[in-house]
Amino acid sequence: MKQLLLTACLLLSLAAISHAQSINIIPAPVKAEMKNGQFTITPKTVIVAAAAESKSVSFLNDYLDKLYGFRLKTAAKADRNYIKLVTPVFVKKPDNEERYTLNVDANGVSIQGDSYQGTFIGIQTLIQLLPPVKSNALKIPFTSIEDYPRFGYRGMMLDVSRHFFTVEFVKQYIDFLALHKMNTFHWHLTDDQGWRIEIKKHPELTTISSCRESTIIGHHPGKGEDHIKHCGIYTQEQVKEVVKYAADRFITVIPEIEMPGHAMAALAAYPELGCTGGPYKVQGTWGVLQDVFCAGNEKTFAFLQDVLDEVIPLFPSKYIHVGGDECPKDRWKVCPKCQKRIKDENLKDEHALQSYFIHRMEKYINSKGKQIIGWDEILEGGLAPNATVMSWRGEKGGIEAAKQHHNVIMTPTGWCYFDYSQSKKEDSLTIGGYLPVEKVYSYDPQPKELSAEDAKYILGGQANLWTEYITSPTKVQYMVFPRMAALSEALWSPKEKKNWKDFEPRMNDQIKRYQFWNVNYNPKGIKQGE
Ligand code: ACM
Ligand code: ZN
Repeated sequence: MKQLLLTACLLLSLAAISHAQSINIIPAPVKAEMKNGQFTITPKTVIVAAAAESKSVSFLNDYLDKLYGFRLKTAAKADRNYIKLVTPVFVKKPDNEERYTLNVDANGVSIQGDSYQGTFIGIQTLIQLLPPVKSNALKIPFTSIEDYPRFGYRGMMLDVSRHFFTVEFVKQYIDFLALHKMNTFHWHLTDDQGWRIEIKKHPELTTISSCRESTIIGHHPGKGEDHIKHCGIYTQEQVKEVVKYAADRFITVIPEIEMPGHAMAALAAYPELGCTGGPYKVQGTWGVLQDVFCAGNEKTFAFLQDVLDEVIPLFPSKYIHVGGDECPKDRWKVCPKCQKRIKDENLKDEHALQSYFIHRMEKYINSKGKQIIGWDEILEGGLAPNATVMSWRGEKGGIEAAKQHHNVIMTPTGWCYFDYSQSKKEDSLTIGGYLPVEKVYSYDPQPKELSAEDAKYILGGQANLWTEYITSPTKVQYMVFPRMAALSEALWSPKEKKNWKDFEPRMNDQIKRYQFWNVNYNPKGIKQGE
């Protein structure tokens, strides 16, 4: 009898799990219950929402308009056929502002967020319940969902230096982030191959640093050069437009201004800021270059402070990314100014000089009320006191930083570099590597090595899209889909909910959504081991 009861309980709980999991949402929600019945959204359905929900209302209506060809009217109240958005005012700040509940019954849809952002995220879940075919009658299942993210930082980087992408496409990329419940857009704006943000005090960054004369053909070191100019810059007005577009989707934009390495585009216009004095040119090839900002020259710091004086007011983000990666020390070793700095500041070596550079810039950025993020090389020679570390050369740097009680964003190459090939037989040009979607899915940003106390410093994770071999929006889409779906679940869903076998069919439905959006994706990315 006991045995029978146990079996019955087991069967019941299995049924509950499979029921809950059959809801077709990525990332998998914390709790989801499917019920019998369907509600139908038609052009007659009304949105009941306060004026303060305008971001959610606009996003939903724009989505409906673009994909289904109709918009919904708003109303002060409705008893049936509604989509109700409610964000209560809390006396005490809620624990997780991204939390929401979503209920669908015969009368309509109710979404309640713990903040306007939470309600907006609930809208993304509603969007996933819609059928991926154009219709005037959108049937969605009765359901009851409660949901919140595992990690507070869920990011995607886009490198616009190696190849420039228009404002229009950057906005589309931000929409992709919102639709995958990501909340941070890391905008890699400067590098050796192009400077992409207007700085009024230094106009040559626009006239000289934003253009390269030529690019290598094929994989590095290349089969010759194409002799085609590649240029692009965002004006400050365009930057503001992008930041607002992102804020309307509750996405924070973190700008990256690289220093002291990856500086050739800036040096091409201001050669006096390099150790040798140049001449330098905006690079048409890839890799790590020896010429970097001179750390002994006061003019370098004055220039970078000028740049930051104009960058900081454009971005409400609390973080400014200062790069810090891949800075060879060859020039510093033989530069009299750099060597004098080492002596004057009593520094041990060139690694300590890099640490001096980042410390000094951190102090300046902190004085403006902002915090820095740097790639994990900023650990070398000693971390700046308030720095957040972005761990890319594996997780080692992140683990070390967390142990030192510094915040960490995990973005290790082996799981998070979306410039790597998704399939073994990749037929387009990529940087190489092999990062199939299943491996992205398996990623857990919280390393087992950390104690519970130290693990709190892991803010979350991010995928990086370096664009040496990514020259068009459709190629960006091909590289990020479907891997962004896998990452979104790895960063959002409770650890115990992660299950590849459960994710795979939901991902195949997500592919139908990519098709419906008319965006590109890698079809080989969904067949494992190929
Ligand atoms: C990096 O990939 N160089 C951060
Ligand atoms: Zn120097």
